This record gives sequence, structure tokens and C-alpha cells, in this order.
Amino acid sequence: MRILAFLTFTSCIALSQLSSAKSSSHQPGVVQGEKKCDEYMSYEECVKQAAATTAKCRRSNSSHLNVDKICTDFDQKLKKLCSAHSGKASCLECFDKLEEAVERCKNLSDMIHCKNNITATECEEMKASLISYCSSKECDVCKDLYCRNGGKCAGPSAVWCTCPAGYTGAFCQKKGKSKCTAKPCKNGGTCIGDNRCKCPPSFYGAQCDRTSRLGTKENPAPNAQAILDAGESQGSGMYWIQPPNETARAETYCDMSFAGGGWMLASYGYVHTPNGNVNNKDNKAIPNMNNPFGYSWLPNRRSSSNGVINLPHGAVKIANNANYMIMAAGNNPASGGIDQYAYVYRIFLSKNPYKVTFLNHNLFNGGQQGRMHVTKFVVEALKGESGTYVRFALGEALGVTWSDSYPTGYGFNDKNSTNANFNKGPFFPSVHSGSGRSPCSFCTPTNFKPDVPGGNPHYTHRGWYTANGYGKTGQTSVWFK
Ligand SMILES: *[C@@H]1O[C@H](CO)[C@@H](O)[C@H](O)[C@H]1NC(C)=O
Ligand SMILES: *[C@@H]1O[C@H](CO)[C@@H](O)[C@H](O)[C@H]1NC(C)=O
Ligand SMILES: *[C@@H]1O[C@H](CO)[C@@H](O)[C@H](O)[C@H]1NC(C)=O
Ligand SMILES: *[C@@H]1O[C@H](CO)[C@@H](O)[C@H](O)[C@H]1NC(C)=O
Ligand SMILES: *[C@@H]1O[C@H](CO)[C@@H](O)[C@H](O)[C@H]1NC(C)=O
Repeated sequence: MRILAFLTFTSCIALSQLSSAKSSSHQPGVVQGEKKCDEYMSYEECVKQAAATTAKCRRSNSSHLNVDKICTDFDQKLKKLCSAHSGKASCLECFDKLEEAVERCKNLSDMIHCKNNITATECEEMKASLISYCSSKECDVCKDLYCRNGGKCAGPSAVWCTCPAGYTGAFCQKKGKSKCTAKPCKNGGTCIGDNRCKCPPSFYGAQCDRTSRLGTKENPAPNAQAILDAGESQGSGMYWIQPPNETARAETYCDMSFAGGGWMLASYGYVHTPNGNVNNKDNKAIPNMNNPFGYSWLPNRRSSSNGVINLPHGAVKIANNANYMIMAAGNNPASGGIDQYAYVYRIFLSKNPYKVTFLNHNLFNGGQQGRMHVTKFVVEALKGESGTYVRFALGEALGVTWSDSYPTGYGFNDKNSTNANFNKGPFFPSVHSGSGRSPCSFCTPTNFKPDVPGGNPHYTHRGWYTANGYGKTGQTSVWFK
């Protein structure tokens, strides 16, 4: 990834040189700085280099994991970084502050070797943190002194210069028509690329025409990653989302920092005791995740209870638009992010060829030969355990079932079979347990729409499963990205 280092730090290095010039005497430094700023890589050049870097990434064999997906994600991130860097051209004020960032960036880049020695995941995380760190180092003060060719700051809190006709760029340093003629920047925003505006505080969107942030009730996001990508994240917490093809919005907890952030809580449950008691009311299996408008959704009051996001199709649309799933369990937090849990597993979903329905997948339904399809998944243990595991689930359910339907739940096992006795997970009990052709026996059945006529919300058999064992108690939670 040598090209990455070059790409990422061309701007940083230029800034660093300028900042030492500035320290010798204030005014001459600034003048020198203005001149040097023309040397910034253009957005187009940056994108070209990003493409070359991505191509190199694709050629690396660094792991058995989904290199193609990682490289595509990486490509997207690089393109965003390019916008940020082209924007940095106007950041004369920022030189001093950036010096440390520059050093940190360099240090991080030295640590990235996308070679066979490091797993693709480590590489991905390292790059993600590096990129988000570097991108966050933007300057937010505009000074008329820095605007050229008659440009002026749009106001005291404006970010970049507003340019007269015939000039463009954050500094108005470039001749030519604005690249935002098709979609002009509003409210003092500045054109920084093809129909891309940099907005002053409290304005949002590609044209700076929104006053509501992405992820609010007025402006729900398609997913949590989109909020991060738009630079409108307020950190981990509650956001409004409306997945593609979903007909209404819902509020959920989004973890914006764990493993790159962008994780949306979709459901949770609780295992009080793993002894298999069918009527223990303290056990709260995860409700079926296709329940219309979810179930008892209280994402900030999770402890000792169960819930599914209150979207019209439950968690179905979220899951079908996700590339990753996280199963996090252990401890019993009321709210908060993935780090609250003792065990965390990340599952790669993008190679699942089946459409997720979350329909009943117990022995009498999807878990019968010829109905749902056994699919191979890669499960990575991120906390509590370590290692990467090949596991199986019914692709349509993201779940597995025991050979007599007790237990059935979400997650994975090590059996390449539609139903089986199993000792390895990760696996969380669901209300599908017991719901057969008739309601569950020896238990108080509960009906869940659309297809769990008599599920058992209390049966846990062996508690929730880790990747290597079972008998665990505490909260269970399912997240998507
Ligand atoms: C990738 O793997 C193949 C097969 O294992 C090997 O022949 C090739 O040299 C590897 N390429 C790189 C860049 O490591
Ligand atoms: C960068 O690395 C050097 C040498 O390892 C270290 O002394 C320095 O503190 C690091 N800088 C930052 C900002 O992390
Ligand atoms: C892999 O890493 C180890 C130690 O971190 C090092 O000794 C070894 O030379 C590396 N191998 C390759 C192929 O880079
Ligand atoms: C939305 O629904 C349409 C029609 O069912 C489908 O073709 C399309 O792939 C869906 N889009 C997404 C993003 O799920
Ligand atoms: C799973 O079983 C199917 C059918 O028996 C077989 O074709 C496939 O290779 C198996 N997959 C793995 C990873 O063992």
C-alpha cells in the first residue's frame, strides 16, 4: 500500500512544510503559503490515484476474506478523502494544528502493510481509522485574506470563499466555470467538486439546502453508514433511519465507532437461565425479526427484555441492504453501543445469495430439507473470543434450528445441515422455538405475525452460544451495517 501513503499524505506534507515557513515570521509565511497551495493535488488527480490504489488492493491476496468488498469500500472512502483533501487547500489557518496530525498520519501509514502477513480485516480497520482521522482534520474558518480573484468569505462562520463568476475552487484560485452549475451551492456553501458543496455550519446536503441533519426525524437516513459518509454523525446514539424500499422511518441506536462505525441495532433479547425451562418468564427470546412494525421497541431500555425495530417490515429491509451483521452478547446494558457487550462477532453477509426474509425457520418450516438454504458464512470473533470461523446458517433466516425445533434462533452453527444438534455458535434463541404445525407444547405459546403461530418467547435450551460453546446468560443483540 505504498501508493496509499503517497496519496494520503501529499496534502499533509505540503501543509507541514508551509507551517514551518509560517513559524519564522507570520505575514511572509502566509504569502508563501498561498503560493504553495496551488500545488495541492486536484480532486481529479486524487481520484485517479485512488483508482490505482484500489486496483493494487484488488491484486493483493492478503486474505481468504472478502477482499473484493473491502477494496470497494476502500475505494469509496478514498474518493471521500479526495473531496476532503481538495477542500483543505484553503486551510492556511490550520497549518499549526495539522502538524501533529501529519505526524500521526505518517506513523499510521507506516503500520499499514496490506501483505500476506496481516489479515484483510486488520488492514481494513487500520485504513478506516486512518482515513477518518485524516478526514476529520479540516479547517472551519474562512479569512478574506485567503480568498483570491475577488472572492469573499460568505460570512463570519463561512467555511470557504464565495467566488465571483469565472472562478472556482475553495480559494477561488482556479479559472473556470463552477462545477456546481447544475446544482448550485446554497446558503453560503462553496463548490468543491462535481456538484459537491462544502456547507457552513447548520446547513447540510450536497447543495447545503437542508437545515436538518441526516438521521433526524425530518430527514431519516437510509442507513447509519450514510450518516457517517455525509459527515453528519453526532457520534453513537439515537438516529432515525428508513432503509431503501421501506415505507416508514424508525429510530434506533447507531454505533458510530465500533469497528469503523455505521452499525444499526435491529433486535435484542435476554437469557436469564440456560436450563431450557419452557415457561421461565425471565427468559426473553428474540422476537421474529420480520414482525410487522417490530416488537416492543425500546432501544434505550434493553436490559432484561426483548425487542425488534419498529419498521413496517421489521428488520427485513435493513438486513437485505446490509453487508455485515454483528452479534453482540453478554452483560445486560440498558442502552449504549457494541462495546458494552462481553462477546462480539462480525459476520460477512455480502456473499449470501439468498434474500433474507426472517420467516419461521424451525424444523417444521424453513429448517426442513428443501425449504430454506444452508449457506456458508465467515464469522469473525472481535471480542470475548478470537479467530475466524467457517459457520453455516439458513441464508433466508440468518439463523439455525435444532433437530426438534427446540431451540431455533438467529445466528450460526458448525453443521452444514438444515437442522442439527449443535454445540457451537454464535447463536441467540428466538421465538421460533417450538412453533410447529401447532403451537408449542408444554409452554405458553405466543403468536407473532406473520408466521409464528405459537412461538415460545421463554425457551432457551442452552442459553446463547459463543463461537465455541454454549450455556451463556445475559443480553443478546443483533446489529447490521
Ligand atoms: C496470490 O495467490 C496466488 C495463488 O496462491 C499466487 O500464485 C500469487 O503469486 C499471489 N499473488 C500475490 C501478489 O501474492
Ligand atoms: C510517531 O512515531 C514516533 C516514533 O515512533 C513517536 O515518537 C511519535 O510520538 C509518534 N507521533 C504521534 C503523533 O503519534
Ligand atoms: C510477518 O510478521 C512477522 C512478525 O510480525 C515478521 O517476523 C515476518 O517477517 C513477517 N513476514 C512477512 C512475510 O512479511
Ligand atoms: C426495491 O424493490 C424493488 C422491487 O421489489 C427491487 O427491485 C429493488 O431491488 C429493491 N431495492 C432495494 C435497494 O432493496
Ligand atoms: C455443505 O454440504 C453440501 C451438500 O452436501 C456440499 O456440497 C458442500 O460442499 C458443503 N460445504 C462445506 C463448506 O462443507
